Amino acid sequence: MNVLVTGGAGFIGSHITNALLENGHEVIVVDPLDPYYDVGIKDRNIKLCRKSSPERYTYVDGSITDEDTVDRLFDEYNVEFVFHEAAQAGVRTSVENPHKPHEINTTGLLNLLEAAVDHDVRRFVNASSSSVYGHDEYLPYDEDHPTTPRSPYGVTKRTAEHYCRVYTEIHDLPTVSLRYFTVYGPRMRPNMAITNFTSRCLAGEPPVIYGDGQQTRDFTYIDDVVRANLALLETDAADGEAMNIGSTGNITIEALADHVIAETGADVEPVYDDAKEADARHTHADVSKARELIDYDPTTDIRDGVSRFVDWYEDNREWYAPLVRAS
Ligand SMILES: NC(=O)c1ccc[n+]([C@@H]2O[C@H](COP(=O)([O-])OP(=O)(O)OC[C@H]3O[C@@H](n4cnc5c(N)ncnc54)[C@H](O)[C@@H]3O)[C@@H](O)[C@H]2O)c1
Repeated sequence: MNVLVTGGAGFIGSHITNALLENGHEVIVVDPLDPYYDVGIKDRNIKLCRKSSPERYTYVDGSITDEDTVDRLFDEYNVEFVFHEAAQAGVRTSVENPHKPHEINTTGLLNLLEAAVDHDVRRFVNASSSSVYGHDEYLPYDEDHPTTPRSPYGVTKRTAEHYCRVYTEIHDLPTVSLRYFTVYGPRMRPNMAITNFTSRCLAGEPPVIYGDGQQTRDFTYIDDVVRANLALLETDAADGEAMNIGSTGNITIEALADHVIAETGADVEPVYDDAKEADARHTHADVSKARELIDYDPTTDIRDGVSRFVDWYEDNREWYAPLVRAS
């Protein structure tokens, strides 16, 4: 099948691309290599994917915010299925510059949905986020929990979900939104707690915790996220739905920092800085809906996942560490 992965040079998109190539699909990646973090990481992602299946991998340097580019892509490559991972990610950045996430995450999405309808694609899978929930009225979040995003980024992600549902309802375009809960693993984005803690600890520096460290996160290992996406190639059970893609549990940021310290063997103690306003206090996913609809079964516990990430980081330190620290 001809599969378009938007943002396929990024962290999650490149892992999905790898898995699609392994499964014999033709993959077209569109990504302008936005310099939100060091593009050296994205260059590596592209090279890795291309190397695995040069004949079935196409990289297009273009933006989903440009309608003509999007139309051309669907025409030229006869796109049959879309994994939409392109975004201006990042809660805190969206507070500083709300226009950019708005343009990419909503206008860009709309361009893709229009093209997907025109070209009769089989399914459109939209990367959403736990940021749509905002304040926790109860935990774990199920999909009936109110959505009151606390950041412009969260608003764009919720808006995108609405657009997807509406396109399913009015245009019969099969869409599914997956609400990812903080995703981590090899080649992950810099400037996230797990990358920051690991990079600092391996350099003998203390991890920096924003706030009191008692905030909790549901960290989801990349392999579980990829499996959730690939399941949607096989089933139409979830069309028009949004569902949580989380892990097996949650952990306080302080416990995470202690765990990274232990795994890296660093002789340091965490230090504390001011809390960041737009961050949710807690995230924890109830994944029953995804379990029921797409047989989603997250298997990687945070402690195993962090051990794997630290091992991977040490093996790839030479190229990854300077790029992480430059971002
Ligand atoms: N990583 C997480 O913890 C997490 C959590 C929740 C949701 N998400 C969502 O998952 C998706 C992937 O996130 P990620 O962590 O891989 O982020 P990422 O930043 O690594 O990947 C996003 C990619 O989109 C590309 N992009 C930016 N503007 C674009 C444009 N105009 N046209 C095409 N591509 C463009 C970027 O260059 C980047 O390579 C995003 O939609 C993000 O909002 C991620």
